[in-house]
Amino acid sequence: MIVVFGSLNADFFMQVDKLPQPGETVLGGRYFLVPGGKGANQALAAARAGDGNQVFMVGKVGKDEWGDFATSLLREDGADVTNVGRGETGTACASILVDDKGENAIAVASGANLEARADQVPDDLLGPETWLVLQMEVTAKENWALIARAKAAGARILLSVAPAAPVPAATLDQVDILVVNEIEARMVGEAEKIFVEDTAEIGETLAARHGLTCIVTLGGEGAAAYSPEGALAVATLPITPVDTTGAGDAFVGGLAAALDEGKTLQEALRFAAVAAGLCCTREGTQSSFARRAEIDARIKEVLPAQIVGGSGQQG
Ligand code: RIB
Repeated sequence: MIVVFGSLNADFFMQVDKLPQPGETVLGGRYFLVPGGKGANQALAAARAGDGNQVFMVGKVGKDEWGDFATSLLREDGADVTNVGRGETGTACASILVDDKGENAIAVASGANLEARADQVPDDLLGPETWLVLQMEVTAKENWALIARAKAAGARILLSVAPAAPVPAATLDQVDILVVNEIEARMVGEAEKIFVEDTAEIGETLAARHGLTCIVTLGGEGAAAYSPEGALAVATLPITPVDTTGAGDAFVGGLAAALDEGKTLQEALRFAAVAAGLCCTREGTQSSFARRAEIDARIKEVLPAQIVGGSGQQG
């Protein structure tokens, strides 16, 4: 079972030739709206990528029409949204600019996401069968409280530190899998007094210090995973990117679905890399997430994650 605690947004996309500099106005082309938010994205990506996995989304939207919009694709793809509450503030909204190379810039008005509370997650969703998935678009202290409660109940914890934020050492001790991009790795590293640029060194140090697996996503270079037993590397799916927005969420959702099905870390990283790559071949966030049949059809184009710099087998 996968339980995602986190944000739900309405994403407002605009196509531009180039992203504006501070103080600059650029004229855009097409625009469109799609449900988003890192939490809801990861839940939807897991629901689509999974082979019948149960996915529960927990968070807050506003008492407005955007609240229904933000949960619409989750409902369509069979995720449980009964624990998505209605807050006093409006549904969160993201402005997303995408340039002609598929790169993006995002600003989020957090709205009701900041009203999401750890106690919205019922006890019966937290147990040894649970993979609890969290990101950083809700109030951090709610995340830390939920992680502590879930860990005590035997759940496994997957924390995606997006957007970048420091994570308390006591929380890192409770996390099973930490997913970061390079910027997020350095932010977590600095809070841990690991003042190096090299994300491999950060990942290795966090893994050894906290007994976790640290996965660093590297954009077009794939991803690397560091655990106390050693390191793994996975490549990307060979594609021409159209829009990379949400690729990190597709990776996390695919990873959660694969781990929930009992795949090894080597296979789960491969599966997540394919899910993330397919997301980049289409516009938008939730509009771009792949379903299981599509991932299975492309899986052979990426090798299972390979052991780097050691000889230990990774489970
Ligand atoms: O990771 C992409 C997401 O970031 C978008 O859906 C947007 O809502 C922001 O949360």
